[in-house]
Amino acid sequence: MDKKISTIIETDRLLLRTATYQDTQSIYQLYSLPESSHYEYWEPIDLAKANRLVRRWVRNQQKHPCSAYHFVVFLKAKELMIGMCGLEIGFNPSEAGQIGHVGYRYFPESWGNGYATEALSSVVEFAFSQLSLHKVESGCVKENSASARVLEKSGFRLEGCRRQGFLIGQKWHDFMVYGILRKDMAPSQT
Ligand SMILES: CC(C)(COP(=O)(O)OP(=O)(O)OC[C@H]1O[C@@H](n2cnc3c(N)ncnc32)[C@H](O)[C@@H]1OP(=O)(O)O)[C@@H](O)C(=O)NCCC(=O)NCCS
Repeated sequence: MDKKISTIIETDRLLLRTATYQDTQSIYQLYSLPESSHYEYWEPIDLAKANRLVRRWVRNQQKHPCSAYHFVVFLKAKELMIGMCGLEIGFNPSEAGQIGHVGYRYFPESWGNGYATEALSSVVEFAFSQLSLHKVESGCVKENSASARVLEKSGFRLEGCRRQGFLIGQKWHDFMVYGILRKDMAPSQT
């Protein structure tokens, strides 16, 4: 029988729960902001694309085994949606459903308060303790120092640089690859 997995995560200041169709408007607002798309390969999206995105996320969340958890992040004190932190699981043979890939973005008004780090750390802990994953990977373009800092503060190690491995618009960027292994975590967190 499948292990019962709770898809609600609570931290000191934040509440994370998986996305539903009701979140489409907030997700559209977040993903249509140029400021939060600066270091991404995709342009700010329109409402039709947001609808397709959320539909895909919800479908993947309903699969057995589940192939993705797209967490909407709320500030508990204000009941305010501040961003997203997603975990997608790699099911190709070399990853065997045991390697997760995380990505995140937040509304600019919330930046600089440690929220992205608090949420990411909790999602990593979820990946190891609830899903028993072997590894979680992420990365960012070299210029995205804030994202690199979030990864480092959450315990990820820099594994290398994919030189000019990431195209944004017309320009190739160096892409910094980060990872964290289950064995890197304290036993109490796994
Ligand atoms: C990157 C992002 C998630 C950071 O969110 P956040 O809530 O501000 O993150 P935190 O507050 O947890 O930590 C940010 C860290 O980066 C540092 N930082 C911020 N801007 C920086 C910059 N320009 N250069 C160097 N460090 C920077 C902060 O000082 C902080 O580190 P510190 O705690 O050591 O002082 C947010 O800026 C964002 O959503 N950006 C757009 C989307 C994006 O880039 N997503 C990642 C794609 S890989």
